[in-house]
Amino acid sequence: MSVTSIPQSTGQQQHDVLVIGSGAAGLSLALHLPTHFRIALISKADLNQGSTFWAQGGMAAVLHTRDTIDSHVQDTLNAGDGLCHRDAVEFTVRNSRRCVDWLVEQGVDFDLREDSKESDSPEFHLTMEGGHSHRRIIHAADATGRAISDVLIEKAQAAPNIDIFTHRVAVDLITTEGRCNGAYILNQQTGHVELFQAKSVVLATGGASKVYLYTSNPDGASGDGIAMAWRAGCSVANLEFNQFHPTCLYHPKAKSFLITEAIRGEGGKLLLPDGSQFMQRFDSRGELAPRDIVARAIDHEMKRLGADCVFLDISHKPVSFLQSHFPNIMARTREFGIDISKEPIPVVPAAHYTCGGVVVDTNGATDVEGLYAIGETSSTGLHGANRMASNSLLECIVYAEAAAAHIEKNIDKAPPLTAVPPWDESQVTNSDEDVVISHNWDELRRFMWDYVGIVRTDKRLQRAQHRAQLLQAEIAEYYSNYKVSNDLLELRNLAMVAELMIRCAISRKESRGLHYTLDYPDLLDEAVDTILCSRD
Ligand code: FAD
Ligand code: SIN
Repeated sequence: MSVTSIPQSTGQQQHDVLVIGSGAAGLSLALHLPTHFRIALISKADLNQGSTFWAQGGMAAVLHTRDTIDSHVQDTLNAGDGLCHRDAVEFTVRNSRRCVDWLVEQGVDFDLREDSKESDSPEFHLTMEGGHSHRRIIHAADATGRAISDVLIEKAQAAPNIDIFTHRVAVDLITTEGRCNGAYILNQQTGHVELFQAKSVVLATGGASKVYLYTSNPDGASGDGIAMAWRAGCSVANLEFNQFHPTCLYHPKAKSFLITEAIRGEGGKLLLPDGSQFMQRFDSRGELAPRDIVARAIDHEMKRLGADCVFLDISHKPVSFLQSHFPNIMARTREFGIDISKEPIPVVPAAHYTCGGVVVDTNGATDVEGLYAIGETSSTGLHGANRMASNSLLECIVYAEAAAAHIEKNIDKAPPLTAVPPWDESQVTNSDEDVVISHNWDELRRFMWDYVGIVRTDKRLQRAQHRAQLLQAEIAEYYSNYKVSNDLLELRNLAMVAELMIRCAISRKESRGLHYTLDYPDLLDEAVDTILCSRD
């Protein structure tokens, strides 16, 4: 049996399960838990403001009769450049069809093939993306994340056992005798830090790509879960592998708007400013090589030519095709005066996805008892040194289900919740120097982009490490003297994750997947994870 919820005073809450994050991972987990569990679901902004809402291309799954589990597994292993954990890959891919069925049951409306819509057994339209040897990406036009997010949010809001708290920022996890049993949560409306206790705690806080100056990610992708888990004693892995998406819209007013890889999957060509194609010079798979290779090729050509961007051309396709497959991208680019049916789209790479994260097993369990991590914040072993396109939403749903089952089975083993001291605000004052926060944000994201970007060297990494350490010291002093705010918490977490990323990058003496360094351009024979443990 579960504990019954006792919502106490506004400053203190007790639940069976505390889920931090309302993206695909957190929402799916909350919906998979038994309905007699009381669940607190926390998000630091509105429920739909994580990366999930912005996902475009779709979700990879073995759905076509000509596709096979083995093929999806092999493509994922190839993209991951030798570092994926085969057990995690097989586990994820084997569960892909079931997860699609579950999403359809919830009410997600994926696109159907035009020619099968009127038939008795309509089939899903499957698109293609880099690294995949089959059409296997199920999607809702070019706004798949929105379709998933809208449905799961509606379901969670209708569930009587899920208490939803928005505009609440998790500050730090609470552990008692080695077990995680809650978190301190900043209520952004009152400015006070509240205490949330629970028998199991789930981090579903998304990635850390905001650590880079240019990113496809929404504000808020600040690695909070990774930093909180690290402070609580968890191991983290493979943080040197931050993925750069090859094609974000290049326009001064477009805040890193993504141009989906499905455009290349449907025949889009990458062009240099003189109109010539170049991807074949880098990889025989051309535009559909895995992302690390395409992003590096673009970076190389832009630097060689001193070009501000390259171009992505899909104008050879009929307008009706573009309108039905990419309505969102057509509308958004039109706002900037670009007609994709007539002209190529200016594009540049931008930070997109955190492949590493908090180390978990196939139940999403971390190495701190009672604490789980799922979705982009976790490191399951699925992505290795480079995530294959559209495997992320899949991972969110697969591991949400697995973690929910594990929590259900084990929650009765948790000791009863005991008294925990409230957050101590007695020593802090309001800051009169907010410029420190904005300056440090800018500095951090700039040096990470310049020194820990698509191409690295030992010297650049050492410079970055020095700066990250100085910033951390400055932020620590600020943190202990002033009231916490969302901006300060995000900065503190980003600086910590940046330092962990740099430590991982420095320790990898080879070029593998997304980690490319001029000092060690070759691949070593043995593929080894970079694991950091805060308890060491
Ligand atoms: P998110 O959806 O990012 O949600 C994180 C949640 O955590 C948010 O609710 C946030 O408020 C909350 N949170 C964070 N920190 C705190 C805190 N301290 N306190 C309280 N709450 C907190 N993947 C695919 O597989 N297919 C695609 O087509 C695809 N397209 C993409 C397009 C774009 C533009 C982007 C940015 C990503 C795309 N991805 C895609 C990647 C994928 O969308 C994400 O990896 C995935 O949605 C992450 O889901 P999540 O639930 O782990 O986190
Ligand atoms: C895209 O649509 O290009 C993004 C897909 C992904 O990140 O998996």
